Amino acid sequence: MSTNQVNDLASLQPTDLDAGQVFSGKPSGTAIRGYATSSAYTPAIDPGYVFHESSRDMVVWFLGLREPLYVFGPCGCGKTSCIKQLAARLNYPVFEVTGHGRLEFADLIGHLTVRNGNMAFEYGPLALAMRYGGIFLANEIDITPPEVAAGLHGILDGSPLCIAENGGELIAPHPMFRFAATANTNGGGDESGLYQGTQRQNLAFSDRFMLCEMGYPDANTEIMLLNQRFPSLPDKLCSTMVEYANEVRKLFMGEASTGNLTNTIEITFSTRSLLRWGDLTVRFQPLAHQGIQPVTYALDRALAYRASRETRAMLHELAQRMFSQHTEADIKAMGSESGEEFLQGDTALRFMKSRLRYVPTVPQPRVYLQVDYGLPDQTQSGKFWTGEARPEGLMLQWGKQGTAGQQKLIPAEQCESGNVVLELECRAAKKLKDGYAFVPGKSLL
Ligand SMILES: Nc1ncnc2c1ncn2[C@@H]1O[C@H](COP(=O)(O)OP(=O)(O)OP(=O)(O)O)[C@@H](O)[C@H]1O
Ligand SMILES: [Mg+2]
Repeated sequence: MSTNQVNDLASLQPTDLDAGQVFSGKPSGTAIRGYATSSAYTPAIDPGYVFHESSRDMVVWFLGLREPLYVFGPCGCGKTSCIKQLAARLNYPVFEVTGHGRLEFADLIGHLTVRNGNMAFEYGPLALAMRYGGIFLANEIDITPPEVAAGLHGILDGSPLCIAENGGELIAPHPMFRFAATANTNGGGDESGLYQGTQRQNLAFSDRFMLCEMGYPDANTEIMLLNQRFPSLPDKLCSTMVEYANEVRKLFMGEASTGNLTNTIEITFSTRSLLRWGDLTVRFQPLAHQGIQPVTYALDRALAYRASRETRAMLHELAQRMFSQHTEADIKAMGSESGEEFLQGDTALRFMKSRLRYVPTVPQPRVYLQVDYGLPDQTQSGKFWTGEARPEGLMLQWGKQGTAGQQKLIPAEQCESGNVVLELECRAAKKLKDGYAFVPGKSLL
């Protein structure tokens, strides 16, 4: 950890924020404790993150409950991201660790290392969170070995951390220190047999937490998520995809409502896989012209290949039934929305942001914009602007269409937050406001 990062953490100023303002943009008069500014350890805000029903309990926890929090729910429903997004909005630094069978207590508190030829103690995530008033986020806590969990009892009760290896250093918990854990099971062991490696938690351990159950977001929220991230997917298609995901979830739970599909299947649709399905459907859209159905092609790659042969056949049968209403023309139309034509104004901005933020596909994303004086299909003399995010900086090129124009490199360290992609997004957004149009065919996202 660099001196800058330590100073950054040490200078954080706790402050009261308005809970309504922070989470929904409307003042509520309810004060919530957070920090005045963010730090290098504060998660980046995902503006597309939707706080839904299940987030409410976590907000209440953030509002002032001092007890540690244990969030459990099915895989990929948004447990980790919800805590991090709430933390991001309150400027909390988050120190994260993910449980595994061989996790040791030293992985949490830190260890001795050699720095400039001398022995020095490098703090681990728990020590940092306690010292600087951050959130210690323990993911997959139910896979953590019982002896490590037992070592946490004192901390969970509010005791200071004693680091014997660092000359018995005592770290008293900062008043803003918080402990949150996520898991697939409620700590009572895995009844479903699906979460390998999870362990029944010691009762004394689980007894120390406030519990919060999280499920998949409701259908409207998931449709909104797909719409936001993949503006080129037709609305109707997004709803059917979510409906399909919910059917698969029911099959998994043995509660299928669809026709003769009464079997239980061994895999389920997480929100994570659903978003991947949306992404791949957009990416494989060009296959529609070769007579391949992008939705089912993407389904295999997002989920179905993970299933047994029998389940996969069932998933395809269900897809055929549910997606038959979407004509080939519908699917092909996706291409023209995101494809070779122009996107302008807010649509262009949404499309560009979703690609830049959520789909880091190519190593050097490039945005191509142009402005034509007149209608987009009358190619009169106009201007073009290209920004390419390279590791060394943002390469800009601009000028008259049909010429090479001029170019300039903005070094990475001069980019917004030192982030070249962010700089590209800001500059391109400004150009779009100035009337430039986004040309998907010439952009590389
Ligand atoms: N409400 C939401 N808004 C936006 N994105 C979401 C939402 N819920 C989940 N996601 C997305 O779904 C993905 C999975 O979320 P996350 O990693 O938080 O799940 P998890 O429950 O912690 O999963 P696991 O059980 O595997 O640890 C992330 O990419 C996240 O951004
Ligand atoms: Mg997680």
